[in-house]
Amino acid sequence: MLSWDDETASAPAARPVPPNGAVAGTEPVADAALVAKRVHADDKRIINGKTDVNQLVPFKYKWAWDKYLAGCANHWMPQEVNMQRDIELWKNPNGLTDDERRLVKRNLGFFVTADSLAANNIVLGTYRHITAPECRQYLLRQAFEEAIHTHAYQYIVESLGLDEGEIFNAYNEVKSIRDKDEFLIPFINTLTDPAFTTGTVENDQKLLKSLIVFACLMEGLFFYVGFTQILALGRQNKMMGAAEQYQYILRDESMHCNFGIDLINTIKMENPLLWTPAFREEIKVLFLQAVDLEYAYAEDTMPRGVLGLNATMFKGYLRFIANRRAQQIGLDALFAHEENPFPWMSEMIDLKKERNFFETRVTEYQTGGALNWE
Ligand SMILES: [Fe+2]
Ligand SMILES: [Fe+2]
Repeated sequence: MLSWDDETASAPAARPVPPNGAVAGTEPVADAALVAKRVHADDKRIINGKTDVNQLVPFKYKWAWDKYLAGCANHWMPQEVNMQRDIELWKNPNGLTDDERRLVKRNLGFFVTADSLAANNIVLGTYRHITAPECRQYLLRQAFEEAIHTHAYQYIVESLGLDEGEIFNAYNEVKSIRDKDEFLIPFINTLTDPAFTTGTVENDQKLLKSLIVFACLMEGLFFYVGFTQILALGRQNKMMGAAEQYQYILRDESMHCNFGIDLINTIKMENPLLWTPAFREEIKVLFLQAVDLEYAYAEDTMPRGVLGLNATMFKGYLRFIANRRAQQIGLDALFAHEENPFPWMSEMIDLKKERNFFETRVTEYQTGGALNWE
């Protein structure tokens, strides 16, 4: 890695010594000692790596690079979505029931700040602790996608003419939202603490725990009541613009979650000492807490049945998702015999090159830079 304190960096530039075997007449590129310091893929590590983080290649973690490319290919912007029908519906006194309006406002109340928390966690926390440049490259893309998501929620709030003070302060003022954020914040604070460094089993476990909370419980669980609610509105031809935005966000978030799970599993593989029985028990307890918090949010946002949904249905859904997340990181399922009460949500996540659910445009569209000319 370049070091600006290094004596050699401040010494007068010396002409490189030709390496043994240099071809006559060609310009030598570096001396043998420098060539020996080149990055080898085998030496890369996700955490506590010693290789130069400025050199993206040679690749070791191809899955991270592939997700970066897929994220770029799925680029979208909130203003591309027409919000006119949503605006008319919201302004029509008979357009939505009081329960549907409460659901939309509570929903936005969580999301308008959630993605800022996510972005700050990546930029100020996770990024500096990850020493694989392919993974950093994906995290940069992910951070921009979180900015797009915050933009999308703000765009919906502005389009509908909602009270910005009410919506953007919901994470302070609405208990079911505040409780979710208060659960997350200590894990974000661990990574963003300037004094925190990895390199001991204790601190590496803290990092791994924060990554699990962020990928499996925040992006992988806390978002799913909210996504299901708005997409259920869309399935009934209500708030179609918002539902389309949420569909793109759901697609991004499911990739963030999958990237996080790949990251977690690779760290486990490279550092097996971290995955102790006691650590696994701690993680299980966090999963159970997160399910309870998200269920409380479901009850608060749906005090009565609405859109054919009710909070009780979400109890099963959250247990089903929690089981899946636990198994994805190598834990046993936490709840017995849970099945997905919303199979249409899986169809939405898995859509590939189909018209999107609301028949507005191709969901899995590719931006120009990703077109294949063969
Ligand atoms: Fe997001
Ligand atoms: Fe995300």
